[in-house]
Amino acid sequence: MAKYKIAWLPGDGVGNDVMEATRIVLDGLKLDAEYIQGDIGWEFWINEGEPLPKRTIDMMKTTDCALFGAITSKPKEEAAEELDPKLKDKGLVYFSPIVRLRQEFNLHTNLRPCKAYPGNPLNLKDGIDLVVFRENTEGMYGGVEFHPIPQEVFDALAKNHPKMKKFSEYGLENLAMSTRIMSRQKCRNIVTQAFEYAKKYGYKSVTVVDKPNVLRETGGLMIRTAREVAKQYPGIEMWETNIDAQMMWLVKNPMDYGVMVAENMFGDILSDLAAQLVGGLGFASSGNIGDGYAVFEPTHGSAPKYAGKYKVNPMAMFLTAKLMLDWLGENKMAQKLEDAIAFVIKDGKVRTYDMGGSNTTLEIAKAVCAAF
Ligand code: IPM
Ligand code: MG
Repeated sequence: MAKYKIAWLPGDGVGNDVMEATRIVLDGLKLDAEYIQGDIGWEFWINEGEPLPKRTIDMMKTTDCALFGAITSKPKEEAAEELDPKLKDKGLVYFSPIVRLRQEFNLHTNLRPCKAYPGNPLNLKDGIDLVVFRENTEGMYGGVEFHPIPQEVFDALAKNHPKMKKFSEYGLENLAMSTRIMSRQKCRNIVTQAFEYAKKYGYKSVTVVDKPNVLRETGGLMIRTAREVAKQYPGIEMWETNIDAQMMWLVKNPMDYGVMVAENMFGDILSDLAAQLVGGLGFASSGNIGDGYAVFEPTHGSAPKYAGKYKVNPMAMFLTAKLMLDWLGENKMAQKLEDAIAFVIKDGKVRTYDMGGSNTTLEIAKAVCAAF
């Protein structure tokens, strides 16, 4: 029996290309694992009305962790349009399967490292080393949304908040509402994870990014909770910044920052910007980590126009596999993989189009294997 059982979820579009490349790399490392293919993504939405079938969740529960490629997400109406005719008019509503996985498995911590590997021509500056901790299960992406707003919900809000009344003039059918519900427990958890990481890897600061001057209750809860957590880590400075200004400062002074932590949506935004500083989404890895289970995925999407063309950069997916190896406790193997990735980037002979080269996704995999 293999040492690890890993759910293998390529998903949509280029997810398949980069997963195929990653398998070459994991086999090159001789990871002792059994990979179990799982159904997830757009084709299952179209044909079954369910992009994340229950059989996939059941299968995942028998594995140690999952490796996931990419997913196509579309707004509600567009998604409904594409359903198989026999499934239309059933009131099916599309919901991003990766967001659901995060909630279903309580993968509360989204870890997104963004490191400028020397020699990458796409680095904004050399030496950038950022790590984003994104709360992954609640906040603005918690999924509690309404359109129209039910009368009962409207009345309860109007009764409890003076600012709600002014919306009544538009009519409920013209009102949509997405909530940003945050718990002290999840705020504490994500900030603690960020501080623990800073302590373990020697970062001198943790920057808590929110917008408490406007989002006084949710942003306020995050900041107040973070201040409490920070007291347990006297050697590490905590900086508090607003999301808008932080975007500007990150571009201006990226070297000033190390570990950053934010609520779900702000962390989503922050991590794309951080990725661009170190070469774009082709280099951005992520781990959705819970207490006993984790799903690892590159930050990039499914890029449908490149699907099956073996054109996209698989480095983000390889760095994602590195995160998985670390989480599994295979630290030596993880280091070996990262060293080989760093070598191929610096060497510069084998590169995908985004880096100015013309090599294929699979050629990058072979170059990484040759560097082991
Ligand atoms: C990400 C993506 C997802 C998210 C989308 C595809 C739902 O942008 O992982 O950052 O917003 O979480
Ligand atoms: Mg995103």
